[in-house]
Amino acid sequence: MKKLLLFFIPLFAATQVLAEFQRAENGMVSSRSDIASEVGKDILAQGGNAIDAAVAVGFALAVSYPSAGNIGGGGFMVYRSSEGEVYTQDFREKAPRAAHRDMFLDENGDVDRNLSRNSLLATGVPGSVAGHLDALERFGSMSREQVMAPAIQLAEEGFILNEDLASQFADNLPRFEQYPASLATFSNNDQAYQAGDLWQQPELAETLRRIAAEGRDGFYKGPVADMLVASMETHDGLITHADLESYQPLWREAVHGSYQGYDIWSMPTPSSGGILLIEMLNMLEPYNLGELGWGSTESIHLMIEAQRRAYADRAEHLGDPDFYEVPRQMLLSKEYARQRFADFDPQRASDSQDIDAGNWPAESPQTTHYSIIDAEGNAVSITTTLNASYGNKFVVPGAGFLLNNEMDDFSSSPNTPNGFGLIGREANAIAPEKRMLSSMTPTIITRDDEVFLITGSPGGSTIINTILQVVINTIDHDMNIDDAVNSPRFHHQWLPNIVRYEEGAIQESVVQELRALGHVGISLSPFRIGDANSIMVVEDAYEGVSDSRNDGGVAGF
Ligand code: GLY
Repeated sequence: MKKLLLFFIPLFAATQVLAEFQRAENGMVSSRSDIASEVGKDILAQGGNAIDAAVAVGFALAVSYPSAGNIGGGGFMVYRSSEGEVYTQDFREKAPRAAHRDMFLDENGDVDRNLSRNSLLATGVPGSVAGHLDALERFGSMSREQVMAPAIQLAEEGFILNEDLASQFADNLPRFEQYPASLATFSNNDQAYQAGDLWQQPELAETLRRIAAEGRDGFYKGPVADMLVASMETHDGLITHADLESYQPLWREAVHGSYQGYDIWSMPTPSSGGILLIEMLNMLEPYNLGELGWGSTESIHLMIEAQRRAYADRAEHLGDPDFYEVPRQMLLSKEYARQRFADFDPQRASDSQDIDAGNWPAESPQTTHYSIIDAEGNAVSITTTLNASYGNKFVVPGAGFLLNNEMDDFSSSPNTPNGFGLIGREANAIAPEKRMLSSMTPTIITRDDEVFLITGSPGGSTIINTILQVVINTIDHDMNIDDAVNSPRFHHQWLPNIVRYEEGAIQESVVQELRALGHVGISLSPFRIGDANSIMVVEDAYEGVSDSRNDGGVAGF
């Protein structure tokens, strides 16, 4: 096979610590993996544009950040060209053709959560490879071989594991043990890897080589597809060759809103993220959150009430627009937000009906976000996922990549919460070839036709509220990007009717005042909320931050 390593790249070490904050003038990449950010920066420095870098980072994350970076999953991209055109790409997974509405129900009609999350039935048809290659073809300037070379080298030569990855692998070892290829990939001869060990992925390198050489056919047809389909056949999954061959990413019209004179560009359905973000901002715009003050009882009460109403709308109205008529214009309109928020009572929390209906996610939500800008001002915001951390934990034997368990993002049964405690109904019911509803919220904000902010986050249902708070911090509270991203956050999602907050997000006296208003179940979050790797444009420079809640890195030049 053709040798693809066009550039000399030193052996990668996940222990190299890149900055969590950088200011630079020519280009910037912020991601959950310092290695992947460095890959993206190198592509920019070699003259690649933001899309070249985004595709290089996407493939690099599949190697260096395997819990969420992927080729076996999917995601969404918002791209704004330096000419001011905004595009969104939907490379979300699809239900296989043999999927059906009741596929996760047991004989009593209850949702079998083991099946919807931990089996190969949980896997949607992957979209990442098709999405990245399509974006490269449409907007990139470099060849596939050039942008994939770093990921291939990274997988083949390996890199030194840091404490973060080594401990993730060790923690998940009992789950990897159920599948031999997963155990082989994530253990050192069946023993836990240690920080400082070299980690190589030769099978993944070979798969990436095939994709670099053959394009999407290297993944959706031929030996890689054969290995994936063989796994489905031996483990009762549904994905067929026809499912793989017919997968197509889609370019969709961005959702657009305005807030305090800024323009918000974000992801439409099948992600709920953009619509909910704009709906909440529309509800909050008439109130001066800046004057009310960050962390004040009044501003938190307002934001919780906006969250409650928007997430209730998510459950009722949002799903794949190719299968369900989503009332997009209604939900995005300022008039609708005004009416929806008309019953807001500054003195009283409203009731979420049926407060027992949801559960808090039992598992740390995993997805990952990266932001990129190049010297011309082309901006890319991408969020990608396997759904749960390491998806369904199944590595395809011979092909070396993990499968997603995204089917759990469907509403398997009306009003039964999914892995993120989210409720859904008809709009998000399972159907063949339908895309499952997401919360991913890759977003670009402009002011006077110039990029102001590139942001997004992982975190399942908490993603949208994470981005809401980053946006409000920058616009209403005039924070720089470092403070806007690293300030503590809170989350409410209608059902379950509880508020979770990171330490410092809500002062104890404010907790008492919110309780007095009727906000029940306010408590510290068991998880960090979000990981918003973001970039802000300031005067004539870019400021990038990798969220300090997690390891990651920002690389600018
Ligand atoms: N799997 C998480 C999401 O798409 O929202």
